[in-house]
Amino acid sequence: TGDVAAAVAAIERGDPVLVHDAADREGEVDLIYHAADVTPAAVARMRTDAGGLICTALSHDVCEAFELPFLADALDHPAVTDDDLGYDERASFSLTVNHRDTYTGITDDDRSLTITALADAAADPAGTEFAATFRAPGHVHLLRGAPDGLADREGHTELGLALADAAGRPPAVVVCEMLDAETGGARTPADARRYAEEHGFVYVEGRDVLDALRR
Ligand code: 5RP
Ligand code: CA
Ligand code: ZN
Ligand code: ZN
Repeated sequence: TGDVAAAVAAIERGDPVLVHDAADREGEVDLIYHAADVTPAAVARMRTDAGGLICTALSHDVCEAFELPFLADALDHPAVTDDDLGYDERASFSLTVNHRDTYTGITDDDRSLTITALADAAADPAGTEFAATFRAPGHVHLLRGAPDGLADREGHTELGLALADAAGRPPAVVVCEMLDAETGGARTPADARRYAEEHGFVYVEGRDVLDALRR
């Protein structure tokens, strides 16, 4: 549909998009940037206007190249079981990282550096020494995309990576949930759509992304 083409074009030119997954899934709208386009100002927008968790999704293949596991597979602790996760089979969380040139890792400058370096790494896995570039744990949550993308899983992780792929860009996107500053709950799709219009950003429904880009 037109909205999906507009979302792909936005990612292609470096603008953020808003993506609602589905009312019967998380029912959340994420603000999504290609990781290469993240600046300190973009991190500031994510923490002030979005307010959720700032995560960088990397494709399955990139995670394989860097041996980045699902966190749930890497930890041995009785709390690590997500059989009671209400909205999906599993969370896509992998490690948390900071670029080694960051100090605390949390400032807008630090997170922007970590995220853009993750984009560089995703663009050239063979040319990247992951452990020499990043330290874990850190302040940027990595998300690991499902092996077959949207055919496997319909999360913001895969929706964002599918938009990057359709835009012909490396498989690294940043996602952050849009929360309502007053209530602390998820922003409604109607409210997120209003925010998108106010800022000239594209808003798209996950359903439409699935119809257009799932293969
Ligand atoms: C991490 C999350 C977000 O919902 C994010 O959108 C990634 O998760 P998913 O792929 O399951 O939608 O919980 O903050
Ligand atoms: Ca499970
Ligand atoms: Zn999500
Ligand atoms: Zn979420």
